[in-house]
Amino acid sequence: MIQKIAVLDFGSQYTQVIARRIRECCVYSEIMPYGTKASELKKQGVVGIILSGGPASVLARNSPRPDPKIFDMGVPVLGICYGLQLMGKMLGGEIVSSKQREYGFGRLSFKAGSLLLKGIDSPAQVWNSHGDRIEKLPAGFKAVGVTENSAYALIEDSKRRFYGMQFHPEVVHTPCGMDIIRNFLFGICGCKADWKMSDYVERSVAAIREKVGDKKVILGLSGGVDSSVAAALIHKAIGNQLTCVFVDNGLLRKDERVKVERLFRDNFKIRMKTVRAERLFLSKLKGVKDPERKRKIIGKTFIQVFDKAVKSIGKVDFLAQGTLYPDVIESVSIAGNPASLIKSHHNVGGLPKKMKLKLLEPLRELFKDEVRALGAELGLSKEVLWRHPFPGPGLGVRVVGEIKKSYLDILREADAILMEEMYSSGLYYNLWQAFGVFLPVKTVGVMGDERTYDNVIALRVVESQDAMTADWAHVPHELLAKISNRIINEVKGVNRVVLDISSKPPATIEWE
Ligand code: XMP
Repeated sequence: MIQKIAVLDFGSQYTQVIARRIRECCVYSEIMPYGTKASELKKQGVVGIILSGGPASVLARNSPRPDPKIFDMGVPVLGICYGLQLMGKMLGGEIVSSKQREYGFGRLSFKAGSLLLKGIDSPAQVWNSHGDRIEKLPAGFKAVGVTENSAYALIEDSKRRFYGMQFHPEVVHTPCGMDIIRNFLFGICGCKADWKMSDYVERSVAAIREKVGDKKVILGLSGGVDSSVAAALIHKAIGNQLTCVFVDNGLLRKDERVKVERLFRDNFKIRMKTVRAERLFLSKLKGVKDPERKRKIIGKTFIQVFDKAVKSIGKVDFLAQGTLYPDVIESVSIAGNPASLIKSHHNVGGLPKKMKLKLLEPLRELFKDEVRALGAELGLSKEVLWRHPFPGPGLGVRVVGEIKKSYLDILREADAILMEEMYSSGLYYNLWQAFGVFLPVKTVGVMGDERTYDNVIALRVVESQDAMTADWAHVPHELLAKISNRIINEVKGVNRVVLDISSKPPATIEWE
């Protein structure tokens, strides 16, 4: 049986981060409901248990508790934050309440000797979360690390192999955190580093099969990284029980529909339904200039079209989505509660409720880079896996003001040239995004002997880590000159190209 670490989830925003850290150590872990019975954990071959943090107070009535028998299983237990307090409380210590929960840096001081701290120098920087406090240790425990604010920042009962910490080893602000996790996994639980992404594929495929049975699944394929990987994974699991629906809303990049069809229908042999709804979208957008209204119309129309397409497929039970665990680590805030910074996911809309379908989200535990690794394992190309983000409303928010087919066609051509040059210069993969924006501004130019009066294309090329902030990329002038030249010469209707040199904030990445 595969060695497994169970992460019991008490509701911390970081539970997924803990699981990710364990995967980074090439050890298999599974997030399980906090109340999972000890007998079940034993049956599954769990060799170590991590109690996650969580928003509750152990002093509150009905606060979530694990099965007390987990402490009799003879396997190591590591409690983080709320998990530490649980251990304290359930094993006979005393906890006192503190009303406010704060986050902040701390300095962990300790004497050498704890297996958990092997290879780490004192003092070490840690990221604290101060909630309730341990006032008296349970029997058998001793403090092995202190911080400015806590005499019991790190406690252990090395005989029973129980460990608890007030701080978060899983976040980047605890630089020694990975060492602590490694020490727990390898030094204390005796794990081997033999888990691979291909094992993840196998496990997901089995889990999808079990969940779906002989039912049908639909997935809204956008051609972006997440939905593409989800499609490939689910197809591997259930083949033709999956149908992908691709909506061509007329706001896509040049040749996008054909490329997506080629890859998924022709290459992967995935059942795919393409809906060509350009006319409908454009008619609903006619005369609309306001960006928010445009977004709303596009979103609403998408749901209508998608709903209709699904009904035409017949009886479907599951709606699959490429939802990921949002990227919390890179955007951890230093000042406030880091968890509050999690971005809301653009793609989790009101679809499933409206359609009365069960959700299938096989990428939910994963981070973007893991999804890419998974996609590569499934045979998706670098080009697909490293595509720049493309907004749901598509070119609808890249044609400033009113949307017209003629504007979209011009933008598609100009944007395709920009893409070509980004790829051939090798710059594409160093950028967060590069795209063109159509400005409905006519300016005067001269071509040959003729005066022209045409539109403007703005180039938006940005570098970013997470889209929360972004900088305009310093693209070499020669390359900019080539792009501008090509667009003006090759795209009818454009006689001027400008470069957007605003950063975010105060500007945003998209123009609308
Ligand atoms: P802004 O313009 O807010 O964009 O700086 C930040 C990132 O989000 C993308 N974006 C969207 N993605 N649906 C999406 O799926 C949307 O409605 C949407 N609006 C913006 C944008 O491309 C950038 O990467």
